[in-house]
Amino acid sequence: MKVSYHGHSVVKIETNGKTILIDPFINGNELTDLKAEDEQPDVIILTHGHNDHVGDTVELAKKNDSLVIANHELATYLSWQLVKTHPMHVGGAYEFDFGKVKFTQAFHGSGLITDGNEIIYMGMPAGLLLFIEGKTIYHAGDTGLFSDMKLIGERHPIDLAFLPIGDNFTMGPEDAAEAARFLKPKKVVPVHYNTFPPIKQDPHKFVEMLDGCEGQVMSAGDVIEY
Ligand code: NI
Ligand code: MN
Repeated sequence: MKVSYHGHSVVKIETNGKTILIDPFINGNELTDLKAEDEQPDVIILTHGHNDHVGDTVELAKKNDSLVIANHELATYLSWQLVKTHPMHVGGAYEFDFGKVKFTQAFHGSGLITDGNEIIYMGMPAGLLLFIEGKTIYHAGDTGLFSDMKLIGERHPIDLAFLPIGDNFTMGPEDAAEAARFLKPKKVVPVHYNTFPPIKQDPHKFVEMLDGCEGQVMSAGDVIEY
């Protein structure tokens, strides 16, 4: 399995000939190395309805006949745009052909902001647990720190965790380091920083704050192989 990072919260997983994209915010993401026209995801998984996470989902899914996994409200909205969807919600897990996905809680918003000065309700935001090839990957989505991260880590020993560190909209570096103490993953990768001026952070400082787990700063395009 190949797990790669592509700027902001974009993570790609390649497993058994399938490509999974999480939060494919490509156009407008100045930190990504991806080009939307080159991506051919079989599956897209969304943590919440904010534009910097839904990103290019509709265009990608239509072009590649991708399955989009998202919370019920967001999945329903996308299905109206003739995208193939699988709705889920916080606390629920489902076995797909590429592995198991479980939606976990996240403390954040999830409204989709339209061009017409409207915010459309898109249900609750989520984090993701992915059980693939015997490994457990946690993508926290956008969230503040919450103590039930202890429960998530205890019940599902995590090999690799993607945690937001940008501050302002999500956890900052100190809270994310505390999240890592709660979750006890083998490895942590910081995400959701430096994309916009209010979330400017030094990821190396975050990694220095970690104790008890390995931190890895990934540049766009970097790969972790399992
Ligand atoms: Ni967000
Ligand atoms: Mn975000």
